Amino acid sequence: MSTSIRYQQITEGSTVFFAPEQKNKDKGPGKKQGLPFYNPAMELNRDFSIVVVQWLLSTGQRKHFSLLDGLAATGVRGLRFSNELSGSFDVIINDWSEESFFVMQKNVKEKSLKNIRCENQNLNSLLLEEKFDYIDVDPFGSPVSFVDAAMKSIRHQGVLAVSATDTAGLCGVYPKVCLRRYAAHPLHGPIMHEVGLRILLGFVAREAAKHEVGIQPILSYKTDHYMRLYVQIHRNIPSANKTAKRIQPISKKDVYPFKDEPGFIGPLWTGSLHDKKIIKMLKGIGERKTVGTKKKMMKLFSLFEEESEAPLFYYTTNELGSLLRCSPPKLEELWETFHQHDLPIFRTQFDPTGFKTPASFDEVKTLFVKSCKNSEWNYV
Ligand SMILES: C[S@@+](CC[C@H](N)C(=O)[O-])C[C@H]1O[C@@H](n2cnc3c(N)ncnc32)[C@H](O)[C@@H]1O
Repeated sequence: MSTSIRYQQITEGSTVFFAPEQKNKDKGPGKKQGLPFYNPAMELNRDFSIVVVQWLLSTGQRKHFSLLDGLAATGVRGLRFSNELSGSFDVIINDWSEESFFVMQKNVKEKSLKNIRCENQNLNSLLLEEKFDYIDVDPFGSPVSFVDAAMKSIRHQGVLAVSATDTAGLCGVYPKVCLRRYAAHPLHGPIMHEVGLRILLGFVAREAAKHEVGIQPILSYKTDHYMRLYVQIHRNIPSANKTAKRIQPISKKDVYPFKDEPGFIGPLWTGSLHDKKIIKMLKGIGERKTVGTKKKMMKLFSLFEEESEAPLFYYTTNELGSLLRCSPPKLEELWETFHQHDLPIFRTQFDPTGFKTPASFDEVKTLFVKSCKNSEWNYV
């Protein structure tokens, strides 16, 4: 096996590493080739983890931290931790595939990295054996089979990072899949991405609460093909109770576009998606790091900061425009009208034409029409 692998040298962040050359670049995740797959499209995902883990190392209460890249493939994320983070820590990179283990070991040896160990285990076994301050769960597909063991392993005030690429289930294309995996009813419609992300968070929250653990989301986001969240762990019963209270079903009647349909969506996470104070600190750390997606990442931090204070769910100007028969106003005009009426309005990561507000639906309609220059209706 070792001699037949052809490698390419890749730089991500400020780390140089080796990944197997991909024979068929169009085929996506290299499972079919049996070789660990390096996916450049996940650079933003890894850049965020560099910033979040640096925050943990800089502000956490421990003298020494143990960081686990649990589903490591080539090991790129853990290699980057080892090379790009400052503080007192060890990195463990784990993958159950022999080919991955071989590639990870090659990378560690070539770079003479000292604070990093390679493991070749089923992640769930490793999580039952050891405790960690940071656990990264980045699977192909759904993370559901790893979160229970991760909750047993993660230390108080540690951070658990979870990715999910099964977005079709979470966003309601396959509602039965969502029900089976996440025990929740999704929604297929305008706000499905936020509903999906909150179902994933709700699932993680429930897995925590059953172990008498509470979670505090640091940041949570959805991109074109995956969802990702970082939660800080609080190992005590009051936090677990607070967490459990935030997992709620939502009546379909209370969700825009309001329909007179029976039933509910979720249960899902009804608390904030981000921690505003921590996001402010992450912004500062992000500015100082050498990461390839810095521009995009900093833009997203600003959006998350704004979104952290916003209520659940959102409207889009396109839908309101067709409902109210006026062509959608520019967002600046809408913001100005809301501010003139002392009503809060927030941008959202889920749609560039979306907005969140605690205003009532009647107020939203009135102010929306006021902002439309060519409205046929006059709501005032
Ligand atoms: C999406 S890839 C990980 C990508 C990697 N985190 C990165 O940033 O490049 C998922 C990896 O999980 C590994 N894997 C799947 N199930 C596993 C399990 N139960 N225990 C350990 N590794 C597993 C696969 O071999 C695969 O390499």
